[in-house]
Amino acid sequence: MFYPDEIVEEVRTRVDIVDIVSGYVKLQKKGSNYFGLCPFHNEKSPSFSVSPGKQMYYCFGCGAGGNAITFLMEYENYSFPEALEILAGKAGVTLPKEEMSKEAKAQADLKATLLAINKLAANYFYYQLKHPQGTLGYEYLKGRGLSDDTIRRFGLGFANKTGDDLYRYLRDKGYGDHILKETGLVTIEERGSHDKFWNRVMFPIMDVNNRVIGFGGRVMGDGMPKYLNSPETRLFDKSRNLYGLNYARSSKEHYMLICEGYMDVIAMHQAGFANAVASLGTAFTIQHASLIKRYTDQVILTYDSDGAGIKAALRAIPILKEAGVSAKVLNMEPYKDPDEFIKNLGADAFRDRIRGAKNSFLFEIDVLKKEFDLEDPEQKTRFFNQVAGKLLEFGEALERDNYIQAVSREHFINYEDLKRLVNTMGGRLGTGAGAGQRQKISSYQDRKKEKEDGPRKSQRLLLTWLIEEPGLFEKIKGIITPDDFKEELYHQVAVMVFEGHQKGRVDPAGILDHFIDDQEQYKTVASLFHARLTESLTGQERNKAFTETVYKVKKNSLDEASRRAADIGQLQEIIRAQSELKSLHISID
Ligand code: UTP
Ligand code: MN
Repeated sequence: MFYPDEIVEEVRTRVDIVDIVSGYVKLQKKGSNYFGLCPFHNEKSPSFSVSPGKQMYYCFGCGAGGNAITFLMEYENYSFPEALEILAGKAGVTLPKEEMSKEAKAQADLKATLLAINKLAANYFYYQLKHPQGTLGYEYLKGRGLSDDTIRRFGLGFANKTGDDLYRYLRDKGYGDHILKETGLVTIEERGSHDKFWNRVMFPIMDVNNRVIGFGGRVMGDGMPKYLNSPETRLFDKSRNLYGLNYARSSKEHYMLICEGYMDVIAMHQAGFANAVASLGTAFTIQHASLIKRYTDQVILTYDSDGAGIKAALRAIPILKEAGVSAKVLNMEPYKDPDEFIKNLGADAFRDRIRGAKNSFLFEIDVLKKEFDLEDPEQKTRFFNQVAGKLLEFGEALERDNYIQAVSREHFINYEDLKRLVNTMGGRLGTGAGAGQRQKISSYQDRKKEKEDGPRKSQRLLLTWLIEEPGLFEKIKGIITPDDFKEELYHQVAVMVFEGHQKGRVDPAGILDHFIDDQEQYKTVASLFHARLTESLTGQERNKAFTETVYKVKKNSLDEASRRAADIGQLQEIIRAQSELKSLHISID
């Protein structure tokens, strides 16, 4: 859904960011701003500020910043339209409805119907569980240590023995066979229709927005299959959903716990680890990883401690890495899975294991080690060589060295020896893996250089000055225009800041909305509006600092112009301006 700028603007100006944030964070007024504990990172003293003047928030600790819309996006993990809809509701603004094509509308209607049926089914199962016909299921769940609260929170239910009562219930609600067929809840055959799930305890699977998209059903004993799951439907795509994410997404922890099963997620949540999700027995996919990346870049794998679980962890680690998520692996020994661990040793012991979770690389080395008989010199050498080969995959020297240290410490290998082995192997590989390494190193350095060069920095500073002290526009009249901001992003911001100034008001929160689609840009621009100027400067120092900033921005702009000058006339003009610039002095107080 695309909303025009004016509507976004209207919604945003009608709500007060202090009101919105206060709903989540305890704020205290200090001067013209409000301060509180940052909801986006763990801290003990408040560095999270909300400015009613700018209608923005900013955390001096972690750099999170934005306006009312992005606050809801970050805190509640809403999409832009979702956040806007919530705010519009609060502000009493009616959002326009987009005209959908006939086809799109039919699709949306079908999905909505399927969701409605799933919701009915989930309620139906829950109702059964809570009534005499569901005693068996209820006792089973209680026997597994689940509280009534947990049962309600996860909407657990029971499918009767009858075999077609859900089907009849849904028919009674007016749904016909053609649509019921699409839900995966019933099989419809000529001889009669029956429920897919019967005589099982039921686990509704919810998407991030708490909508039921499928079910899992467990036998209450040793029958086969242990779990029966909804087939993939229009709503349910196993490779794109994580069980428990609807709750885990708003957990305050900076990492997520990934496990295998329904009961593991539920047991962890019940024990206070509300950041647990499961890929439900299916292999972890890159889509799962990107889904997680929307909420965090750190996970702890809590897969079963059997061979299959270790394999699953080894598979998931590179997939997560690819998506930019770093992983640790939790040791559950001597128990099989989080559910059993917590039942036996309790939440505190589990928390200790979280603290002790192993870096994924060191975990990989541990697993590798088991393949070798280290009593045998030849096998031992092969093991060391393989370790060195894996260490070479770290392109950055410092990082590689940190890992060499860690591995040598953990496996009692002499550090110098291991380092030498890695280096000779790196040299020997020359073109092959070595070339890959060199490329990685140089791109890393490029990134570092890119971080902030001189001209960028002065453009950034000048923008911050102008936003903080609108009086300064007077001082740069005739010297600086938005076109002097050569850095593309800063140029875009400068155009809007200058425009705003001309209209009599710079609206930081409004400007920020233009960058909402690009997280990097968004962060950069947000930080512009919150950078702190060196307040402690004396008058003279301020003059000097400001003059210098203006000088650098203008000089960079003229230098670039001179490189592009099309004829000698233009060039002379530029040279004249360059020499004039040398005597620039601005007094600002
Ligand atoms: P597990 O076999 O490890 O079961 O399967 P579990 O999670 O420990 O279940 P409990 O504690 O015995 O009840 C892990 C996950 O794999 C999927 C389920 O999502 C399960 O939670 N699975 C397993 C199936 O889909 N079907 C099966 O038959 C078995
Ligand atoms: Mn289990």
